[in-house]
Amino acid sequence: MKLKIKINAKTFLTVCLVFCLAFVSCTATRSSFKQVKHESDILKIIYYGTLAGNSHNTQPWKVKIIDDKTIEIYADFSRKLEVVDETSRGLYISLGAFIENCVLSAGALGYHADVKYSSEFSGDHMAASITVKKADHTDFDLADISARATLRTPFKTEPVSKSDLSFLIGSDQESVLFIKADSENGKYISQQNLLAYTQQSRDTRAKEELAGWIRFANSDVKKHRDGLTTAGMGIKGFSALFVRNFFSPEDSKSDSFVEAGIKKAEVQLSNQAGWIVIKQPGSTPTDWMEAGRVYQRVHLKCRSCMIGFHPFNAVLEENNYEREFNKKIRINGTVHLLARIGYVDSYPKPVSVRRTVEDILVSD
Ligand SMILES: Cc1cc2nc3c(=O)[nH]c(=O)nc-3n(C[C@H](O)[C@H](O)[C@H](O)COP(=O)(O)O)c2cc1C
Repeated sequence: MKLKIKINAKTFLTVCLVFCLAFVSCTATRSSFKQVKHESDILKIIYYGTLAGNSHNTQPWKVKIIDDKTIEIYADFSRKLEVVDETSRGLYISLGAFIENCVLSAGALGYHADVKYSSEFSGDHMAASITVKKADHTDFDLADISARATLRTPFKTEPVSKSDLSFLIGSDQESVLFIKADSENGKYISQQNLLAYTQQSRDTRAKEELAGWIRFANSDVKKHRDGLTTAGMGIKGFSALFVRNFFSPEDSKSDSFVEAGIKKAEVQLSNQAGWIVIKQPGSTPTDWMEAGRVYQRVHLKCRSCMIGFHPFNAVLEENNYEREFNKKIRINGTVHLLARIGYVDSYPKPVSVRRTVEDILVSD
């Protein structure tokens, strides 16, 4: 028996469209890239360094391999965010996060890592050196580095348990404060962050700078392997498909895109259990790198507690807001990073892309 199917022109076009959309619908994410097998431990350590959180996913690092025991880490100022990170604090926090991943992965691979900072002043190119020597393996699980991701969804507002908080903060009590979302200071941080984010998002120079790090098209993601992708920004489903295929980075400067971002931030900032506040005694590149190491340590522990972690630093990036913030939040030391945290039901896989180890190696 023959089955006859009649297809009219409209159905045919719809089927074609569905096929076309399916074809272009996969977002290029970290898992789209083939994982390189690194032969030596020093290359493995650098690879884990590259998976660190960093501002705007600029990956502002370069590495020189001195020998199989020592690497030097350099600031890549060509990747500095001149507008929103005038002082380079965010850049050095990112380098600190890179260093922490190197130290933790060295421990897991059976090395003790000795870190020497070399940046006295912001603007110094060499940030630190790391020398490893054989030691007992630590019980740090390398999978924690691979699975860490910034989550930008609304989090649960229920309180974080005391045991989870003390696990997250660990021995970093000197550098980490937790401020409950419903406390006076917690509400203040959320409100001011929204205002500062709004100011920053509407600022022409900041918009221009951000557009330079936007990677909407899959071809751009694959070419640059850095910056903010639709998946990284948490744009999903049909919106992601549309943005990837029909938006250019220039479109991120349009009023409608900016205002949608502000609305999204408002929802984010109304949904967390509280704020992780990372501080250091001073405001030098070494303080910033130390802050970055603490940030990375805390963030790496969140997944096992099903706690989402989202750095939200606009209030510290906009000078007028930072001044007011420092007057209001009177604490010993200087605050360098703020992150909203809260329980989540599911933990998505990391999507933000990275350049390869080879991409960041320098010889002289
Ligand atoms: C110093 C610093 C500041 C950051 N500020 C923000 C922020 O204000 N908003 C945000 O959504 N993410 C922020 N992030 C997170 C980065 O955008 C994120 O780490 C980067 O895109 C890489 O993604 P991943 O953490 O998922 O690997 C910040 C990260 C760092 C290190």
